Amino acid sequence: MKIALIYGGKSAEHDISILSAFSILQAIYYDYYQVQLIYITQSGDWLKGPLLAEAPAEEHQLHIDKNGQGKKITPCEIKEDGIIVFPVLHGPNGEDGTIQGLFEILEVPYVGAGVLASACGMDKIMAKQVFQQVSIPQLPYVPVTKMSWKLNPEEIYNQCEGSLIYPMFVKPANMGSSVGISKAADRDELIAAIKEAFRFDYRVVVEQGIDAREIEVAVLGNEEIRTTLAGEIVKDVAFYDYESKYIDNQVSLQIPAKVSEDVHKKAREYAEKAYAALDGCGLTRCDFFLTSNGELFLNEVNTMPGFTPYSMYPLLWKQMGLNYGDLLEELIQLAKL
Ligand code: DAL
Ligand code: MG
Repeated sequence: MKIALIYGGKSAEHDISILSAFSILQAIYYDYYQVQLIYITQSGDWLKGPLLAEAPAEEHQLHIDKNGQGKKITPCEIKEDGIIVFPVLHGPNGEDGTIQGLFEILEVPYVGAGVLASACGMDKIMAKQVFQQVSIPQLPYVPVTKMSWKLNPEEIYNQCEGSLIYPMFVKPANMGSSVGISKAADRDELIAAIKEAFRFDYRVVVEQGIDAREIEVAVLGNEEIRTTLAGEIVKDVAFYDYESKYIDNQVSLQIPAKVSEDVHKKAREYAEKAYAALDGCGLTRCDFFLTSNGELFLNEVNTMPGFTPYSMYPLLWKQMGLNYGDLLEELIQLAKL
């Protein structure tokens, strides 16, 4: 069977995708699969060929073989008889339904969520509205579109201050890995944070900031789904941003999270509910906030979560007895059109 592993991509999470793809490439069962690598450059060119060539000297080094013989192709040329696509792409153009739409048109089966679940899962405003419909607890938030903000910025700031209290978190609606997110402690910072978030997206969400632990649950399956116990992101920094996540390595994972059985149970229940509400497929990681008085809020979902050897999603499954190679095998089996 042929697998087209598509990685890289135009999003700000390009480098994380390379790390994810490299790990997948090392663990996939070659007895069953022939892997075709397809690299999307940061500028959006599609290159087919063995570009992920060398073993990493250290964890965060990237593994693109600059002399690799990538042949430039058009996206439509990924289609081959019997091929299954594994788009290990994070963020806009990879995790937001756009590339999934291409696979649908080409009629190639692919790993992970479909067009609708990807689009809704990626857009923090849409996702919150879907989760609100099925009564999953979430933090208070204010959705802001560029159009409404341009029309009347003062009204937006008043609305934020009317329904939220400082500090607030301002996030582009369609980014991952904390890109473009800032914390605002007063109105000046709120204005600056909204402007910063609009550099990345036309849609922005302003959320209530809270002091909370962050726990995450992995979901796997199509119509029949399984969840893991929760794992915790243990931070040495107050705000787990892109730098602390991927560059300074200032976080560690506690798997399973040291929380009560009740919290594990509730998180799994909400994760299943969120997955069903989105009509998920294949995989998703659900991220929660847990306050000191035991309140649990769904923060966001990631329909193609980080897949590096130190990423939460595969580690959560490992703890449940499903190793990385077998997890890939299940995901490929779950791929559908
Ligand atoms: N967006 C990153 C890759 C994650 O959620 O793991
Ligand atoms: Mg997250």
